[in-house]
Amino acid sequence: MRLRLFFALWPEAPVRDALGEAAQPLLQACRGRPVARRNYHLTLAFLGGVAAKRLDEIGAAAATVRAEGFDLAMDCHGHWPGPRVAWLGCRHPPPAADGLARALWTALEPLGFRADPRPFRPHLTVLRGCRSCDWAGPVAPVAWPVREFVLVRSETLPAGPTYTVVDRWPLGH
Ligand code: 2AM
Repeated sequence: MRLRLFFALWPEAPVRDALGEAAQPLLQACRGRPVARRNYHLTLAFLGGVAAKRLDEIGAAAATVRAEGFDLAMDCHGHWPGPRVAWLGCRHPPPAADGLARALWTALEPLGFRADPRPFRPHLTVLRGCRSCDWAGPVAPVAWPVREFVLVRSETLPAGPTYTVVDRWPLGH
């Protein structure tokens, strides 16, 4: 059996709600399929389809990651016409966010996973199937204290995309 997996930051309920509110003007201004708030996440490392029996080694690799917690200020938005997504992001992403993504890939590479060669652009997709987005903002800033990272399983069910947190690891402080 294969699982579609990715590592992510997963906001707690109050931050999730605040992000949903911050996204409202963008969602009203631009056409597309809004991502359900329960699915909001910020991807650190996308693994794709992986044999379920590899979950233990992936978890063991994640447990070796040593990184500090950090605070994200979600205070800007963007649109990528290629993947047709509109997103919330950070004008000044903390170096620790990039450090966490790098540390994860360093732990995953011995298992045969290859990092995306493009630079890490922390973003939280709020709209898919979005061909254009002229909304100029501003985004009401949302403070997101990041104290853990998670492994998520993605499934496409009749009810739509469903993400399930399968494991989580604390960050240091
Ligand atoms: P996105 O939000 O920019 O679409 C689950 O699909 C998560 O993994 C999404 O957040 C998605 O980013 C991200 N992701 C990164 N690379 C991906 C890929 N090659 N295919 C699908 N999702 C990918």
